[in-house]
Amino acid sequence: MEERRAVLMEKIQKMKKKCNAVILAHNYQIDEVQDAADHVGDSFALSRIAAQVEADVIVFCGVHFMAEGAAILAPEKTVLLPDIQAGCPLADMVTAEALREKKKMHPHAAVVTYVNSSAEVKAESDVCVTSSNAVNVVNSLDAEEVLFVPDKNLGSFVADRTAKKVILWDGYCITHHRVTLEEVHAAREAHPGTPIVVHPECTPEVVKASDHAFSTGGILKFARETDHRKLIIGTEMGLLYRLKKENPHKQFYLLSQALICPNMKYTNLEKIAASLETLQPRITVPEEIREPARLALERMLSIA
Ligand code: 13P
Repeated sequence: MEERRAVLMEKIQKMKKKCNAVILAHNYQIDEVQDAADHVGDSFALSRIAAQVEADVIVFCGVHFMAEGAAILAPEKTVLLPDIQAGCPLADMVTAEALREKKKMHPHAAVVTYVNSSAEVKAESDVCVTSSNAVNVVNSLDAEEVLFVPDKNLGSFVADRTAKKVILWDGYCITHHRVTLEEVHAAREAHPGTPIVVHPECTPEVVKASDHAFSTGGILKFARETDHRKLIIGTEMGLLYRLKKENPHKQFYLLSQALICPNMKYTNLEKIAASLETLQPRITVPEEIREPARLALERMLSIA
């Protein structure tokens, strides 16, 4: 291990003990951050851990809505986001005000909100979902009609797997939305017989042309269990680190070189150390927003 890494890792371990902190990292984080984390996972796994973990401080290495989710579920803990600039363009594609207007147009629809959204938007929702449970959650609802926000691609994925009417919001992940059908065809040609596994944030045409669509946790599980020795991966490139680490004898190819989320790359060891030292930047949610947002998240956790 290079000297910088070793020094910072040691510093982080010491400070973690001192303030009884736990480090959570999303599967898209850079290698060194994944290595420093106590838990690495997909959005659903991390929100579950945030709700249950025994710690005074959570250092959330991901993007803003993820840390906010932890602050909603665990208000008694200090939740830190090492780089406050780590946002999510998809989450910014819906505001609480715009959602309130849309709800007036569809008074009978259940509002199903992807966790990639702000606390204010979650507070306007009946239930939250992640990509690992969206189909099950929607199918478990009593309502015949759902308003799915903000990701139209994940919403279409759900619509293809439910008898309910799904009303879509015009939002999308700018990283996954970039993957093209031509790239899927080119990958098939370059690697005949190799499964193409994508994230449901990709466009419906890309999902349909691929072999499987799973959350990042689902992709990891598939990679562990399949007999295939080669896989083509259509999600943010950070996942390849864990895929290779867990499956050293298998080969993974990124479906598109455009699959990089700059927001997920802001966090590094220096920023984790600094946030543990200063207990900043701290993410909090006002109580009047937190309580209704918590209900929507807890409904998801209890159904899934
Ligand atoms: P998951 O880890 O839940 O698959 O989410 C991926 C993602 O795009 C988060 O923004």
